[in-house]
Amino acid sequence: MKELPWIVKHRPKRVDEVVDQEEAKREIGLWLEAWLKGSPPREKGLLLYGPPGVGKTSLVEAFVKERDLELLELNASDSRRREELERIVGVAAARRPLRKRLMVILMDEVDGIDPRADEGGIEFLASVLERTVNPIIMTANDPWKESLRPLRERSKLVAFRELTEAQVVTLLQSICEKERLKCDKEALGLIARRNRGDARAAINDLQAVAERGEVRLELVEKLVKGREKSLDIWRTLSELFYAEEGWRAKRAVTQSEEDYESLMAWINDNIPKKYKDPEDLYRAYDALARASLMLSRAKATGEWSFLRYVFDLMGPGVALAKKGEVSKERFSFPERIRAMAETKSMREVREELAALLAKRLLTSKATVKTEVLPYLFVIFRQGSPEAAAKLTLGYPFSSEMLKLLAGARASEIAALAEKLRGTKGEGRREEKRERRGLDKFLM
Ligand SMILES: Nc1ncnc2c1ncn2[C@@H]1O[C@H](COP(=O)(O)OP(=O)(O)OP(=O)(O)O)[C@@H](O)[C@H]1O
Ligand SMILES: [Mg+2]
Repeated sequence: MKELPWIVKHRPKRVDEVVDQEEAKREIGLWLEAWLKGSPPREKGLLLYGPPGVGKTSLVEAFVKERDLELLELNASDSRRREELERIVGVAAARRPLRKRLMVILMDEVDGIDPRADEGGIEFLASVLERTVNPIIMTANDPWKESLRPLRERSKLVAFRELTEAQVVTLLQSICEKERLKCDKEALGLIARRNRGDARAAINDLQAVAERGEVRLELVEKLVKGREKSLDIWRTLSELFYAEEGWRAKRAVTQSEEDYESLMAWINDNIPKKYKDPEDLYRAYDALARASLMLSRAKATGEWSFLRYVFDLMGPGVALAKKGEVSKERFSFPERIRAMAETKSMREVREELAALLAKRLLTSKATVKTEVLPYLFVIFRQGSPEAAAKLTLGYPFSSEMLKLLAGARASEIAALAEKLRGTKGEGRREEKRERRGLDKFLM
């Protein structure tokens, strides 16, 4: 018999077995308390939202068990058309259960309710929220969908957070213990990392690996693919600027391969390209400015949990700033990043040059950098061009290297060297090839 999926077998049974989500636990606890005390809260619905696999459904189930309540659960696989909901939820919302104190009505994944296929479903739920005698809890990955507005307005929103890598590792470790498995800590770390805060996906991967052998790093590397590949900057930007839904924008920024600062610079430079409406521009820059503030706060205090707001602001904050059209203008290459890329290749050229000289001078690259290059700079930039040209003949400097050494005088020195070398033969072809290289570099 195939073993029970671990996400079912090891589903938290008590509230304190749910990792993290402390704020959500507190809010849900208080809200349920009000119901149980006989004074239902003003908002009779709760809308739990957050990324997949972080404990939304499990936490509700754990509360129901602990408080000894009844549970009516409808998830995305049930039909949620109006007639269906009237028959099931409508009835459940109208009377208390016979044996238990309350019936929690859990509507899982309400963002999956299709305004067309499940016609009238949302409107009906919204009306039930006004009059229900039982608590109604809904979950969603993206609560900001336009179609969910009627539910949003009648519910209290409760946020769930992506779990940290360390939290997922701890969770996996406890499962290893229960399964009496020997699990490599590094292997668990990799599983956690590749699943980015998604406990469900991480547990599924752990089980898949354990079914094939020892949970060790090599096996994990072989079996567990990164669930989602990181996005290059072009995809990040287009997914971000064209996102209609908050979670897409969030995903675009959290999965970007760029670091936060470069990403911010990219977004900064592209806002005026893609947004033309002054109010859109205002809102987008406002969000980005706050993202930047949060980022510096995170860095200054070491409170990396602020990053959540950074992502929310520069992702959904910027994406949802638009009310108007997104312009067709092309994305631009931010000046700051261009400058950084340039200095980076300058650094590489410096390394290459040092390596070349070190080989010829039979010394180390470090020595070249401290004791040879400074003199060469003086010779090439301030000394006589002829001396520099002669040196150039003796060493196979590339045009990048020459540019690094001579700065503005590079072409003058190259021309002189060419003259000294004569204008025919190998040397010239070489020079031409390198000139092309130089053009590319200067573009
Ligand atoms: N915070 C957590 N603590 C302990 N286990 C968790 C936690 N989050 C998720 N899990 C594990 O992952 C499984 C899936 O979690 P759950 O169904 O609660 O996620 P969810 O947030 O409802 O996701 P979705 O948005 O996809 O419905 C659970 O059965 C449990 O084993
Ligand atoms: Mg769920």
